[in-house]
Amino acid sequence: MLSLLLVLISLPSEIDSKEIPLFSTEPFEIVFTNEVVWGQTGHRVVGQIAEAFLSKKAKREIHRLLDGHSLAFASTIADEIKSDRAYDSFGPWHYVNYEMGGYYDPSKADERGDIVYGIQKSIEVLESKSTSDVDKRFYLKLLIHFIGDLHQPLHVGRAEDQGGNRIQVSWFSRNSNLHRVWDSDLIDGYNMSYDELAQELLRSTTSAERKELAKGTYLDWVEESHQIVGRVYASASSGARLGYRYTYDFNPLVFEQLAKGGVRLAKILNDLFD
Ligand code: ADE
Ligand code: ZN
Ligand code: ZN
Repeated sequence: MLSLLLVLISLPSEIDSKEIPLFSTEPFEIVFTNEVVWGQTGHRVVGQIAEAFLSKKAKREIHRLLDGHSLAFASTIADEIKSDRAYDSFGPWHYVNYEMGGYYDPSKADERGDIVYGIQKSIEVLESKSTSDVDKRFYLKLLIHFIGDLHQPLHVGRAEDQGGNRIQVSWFSRNSNLHRVWDSDLIDGYNMSYDELAQELLRSTTSAERKELAKGTYLDWVEESHQIVGRVYASASSGARLGYRYTYDFNPLVFEQLAKGGVRLAKILNDLFD
């Protein structure tokens, strides 16, 4: 597994790889933060759904850039590199926070970047004629990941509770937090593999529905997630005890978000590579 990752991860040119080796001989400095990530299953479902709708041309170029790996496989790499300090500067690119009821305002954006910046930068790098393949490979993996993150409503949440990371809840009597419930608890509780879940969502949506879901720009999708997150915040406050009732109420929304993420990722990639 590690060797596979070594093959897949190559540093973008902006990072001085001499200064900070990707896999140094020094012991790993693992930074434990409270921050959790739209779980692996969610990202892989988004990648797997998108894979089904890639054009021939896009598929060929992506196959080349990912060394034959799938979108599902590549989708989690942006999280896997988080424990390596060399990639710290990409941390804020996984989310954006702004006030409830408001709209994304670039003039107030985090100067370290945010998910809007991350998506925009990845698209620019992939569109540019002068980008090296090393950079294209890296930013393609970021883009696949960020389109997934964008559809986890709490990645477009409030700053004061760090997108729900600070809202402690219990999940079937175990400690969790609202962010983690939406990143992984709800999805993993379903006990389906990413492929099974992707197939399930593919067969239960019509092509007309998918066409509708693919509409808009990624900025529209940011605002849409921000609207949805209002409902998520209203669903549970600190100390809430969540279990079956919560899954009955919110699984349909989680599945819709995953389906949207997949269809929209395919659209972005087809627009880029077709
Ligand atoms: N850290 C701070 N805000 C966050 C958010 N909305 N999502 C994920 N991590 C965060
Ligand atoms: Zn997350
Ligand atoms: Zn992420």
